[in-house]
Amino acid sequence: MAIQRTLSIIKPDAIAKNVIGDIIRRFEENGLSIIAMKMTHLSAAEAGRFYAVHAERPFYKDLCTFMSSGPILAMCLEGKNAIALNRQLMGATNPKEAEEGTIRADHADSIDANAVHGSDSEENAAIEINFFFSDLDIHSRS
Ligand code: CMP
Repeated sequence: MAIQRTLSIIKPDAIAKNVIGDIIRRFEENGLSIIAMKMTHLSAAEAGRFYAVHAERPFYKDLCTFMSSGPILAMCLEGKNAIALNRQLMGATNPKEAEEGTIRADHADSIDANAVHGSDSEENAAIEINFFFSDLDIHSRS
């Protein structure tokens, strides 16, 4: 299995619930290392740029409003098979469909307020990591 990097975001709903530590614990206990981390509060326009791939979807405007409603924590995670592993730990996008014990099953309230985001491919991971971090911010441990 290849060492990969992926972008994780703890969304405004999970930040408001004060569960940053619980989410990070799951990453670290499952072999993912945080190699960059930044708390920030996106404007609606910045959220729109980050989610530009969804611009034509009916939920795009609500998504941008929600993602700019409070602070978020952006992280670059590194580890074996990091992209799929992070998505496994997150659970399904819709928390009603998320497997028991996943982050979204435990902390998400709805498909909009779904606690976390994770890159879905190597190509998108590179784009998304680059959105938040420069090379100087990233401290590989592999
Ligand atoms: P995320 O993994 O951050 O990627 C896009 C987000 O859009 C997704 O999580 C959801 O929070 C949100 N969203 C809202 N409605 C939908 C939908 N019908 N399908 C996919 N994503 C949706």
